[in-house]
This record gives sequence, structure tokens and C-alpha cells, in this order.
Amino acid sequence: MNLGVLVSGRGSNLQAIIDAIEQGKLKCRLSVVLADREGIQAIQRCQRHRIPYKVLNRRDFESRQEFEERMVRALQEAGVELVVLAGFMRVLSPLFLKAFPERVINIHPSLTPAFQGLNAQRQAVHYGVRISGCTVHFVTEELDDGPVIAQACLPVLPEDTEETLSERLLTYEHRILPQVISWISQGRVKTEGRKVLVEGAQYGTLPFNPNLEDF
Ligand code: GRF
Repeated sequence: MNLGVLVSGRGSNLQAIIDAIEQGKLKCRLSVVLADREGIQAIQRCQRHRIPYKVLNRRDFESRQEFEERMVRALQEAGVELVVLAGFMRVLSPLFLKAFPERVINIHPSLTPAFQGLNAQRQAVHYGVRISGCTVHFVTEELDDGPVIAQACLPVLPEDTEETLSERLLTYEHRILPQVISWISQGRVKTEGRKVLVEGAQYGTLPFNPNLEDF
């Protein structure tokens, strides 16, 4: 399966995908990475691993529509079959989503629908929840609100700050995202409205539900 990954920053989740492919655990090809700004760490990761990438900056386009049309074209030209948002800091409109129906996923650092939007880990620490986590979900027009494919949970400690919680969450993010991509590539992810099931996966365990198989 050909992947297209959209990034805006550090790219540690992109790195987890690259590593999983290089280790042979994820049988996919990274066809193209689209960055919405120059000078980000995610681009350096592409250069280091010789992964094709393009920088498409919203400011260089007259409208959001033109910007998204250009992204869609770049992804289609690369033969992308699944679009992965990995720290991509923009909401996509129906124009983009219609080009890849049920083929756009996102990773979010909370147990959605809690703490959607920016700074989810800070929101969780400020709210005082005792359990947080991360979610991989299909992308809809609503921010961080699409059908959930898999979640992982983790305790929030009394001494946790946004930084410490984010750091612990990332280790889970880096496992759950490649696993979900792998399940989709195996054709095992089935959607019925908001309900998503991974065929043959083991449900009922923590911290990952469904339980991870290869990561
Ligand atoms: C991650 O916490 C991800 O869940 C969120 O943005 C962050 C991106 O980190 N959507 P990175 O760029 O993958 O390191």
C-alpha cells in the first residue's frame, strides 16, 4: 500500500512509520511526504531516509481550495492509497476528504472525544484527568472527531506536566500508528457508521484496545 504522510513539525510519528517500514514490520511504501512549511525536522528525516517530499505552503496559494487541490494532486500523482496525518496542523475540508474517502487517518494525543484540538496534553493536565491516552481515527470535517480505530490509555501522574505526559504518550503513539496502518493495509479495518472494527484483532485488553500485534 502506498502511503502519503502530511506533517507540520517534528515528525517523530513519521519516523516511527519510516522505522517500521525499514525494519520490514510495515509492508507499505512511503510514496510522498507533504510538509506545509519549510525548515521542519520532518523534512530532515525525509532527506536522511531518501523519502520523496514536497513543501506546499498555504501562503503560496490564493485560497484554501487551491492549496488543498494541489495537495490532492501531489498525493494522487504519487499513487497514494492512504493519507496519514502525523502532526499536521490543519483541518482538511470536504474537497480534500472526498478525494480519499475513508482513506485519511490522524493520530491525536488524547482519548477522543476528550481534549480535541491544540495542546491536548496540556488540556488533560489542566483538567486533572487521571487517565489519558492517544487515538488513531478516521478524519472527518470535524476536528479530531472521526470514527475511532484504536486507542491506548495511560495514567496521568500527580507530578505530570504537559511535557512529561507528552513524552510518555509519544512512545504509545509510535506503536499504535504503524499498527493501524498495517491493519488497514491488510484490509482488516471495517467501518459501520461510527463503529470501526479490526477483523481478527483482540479486544478487551489495556493499555491498547484493540491489542497491538506487531508493534
Ligand atoms: C503528536 O503528539 C500527535 O499526536 C499530534 O501532534 C504531535 C506530532 O508529533 N497530532 P510529531 O510531529 O509526530 O513528532
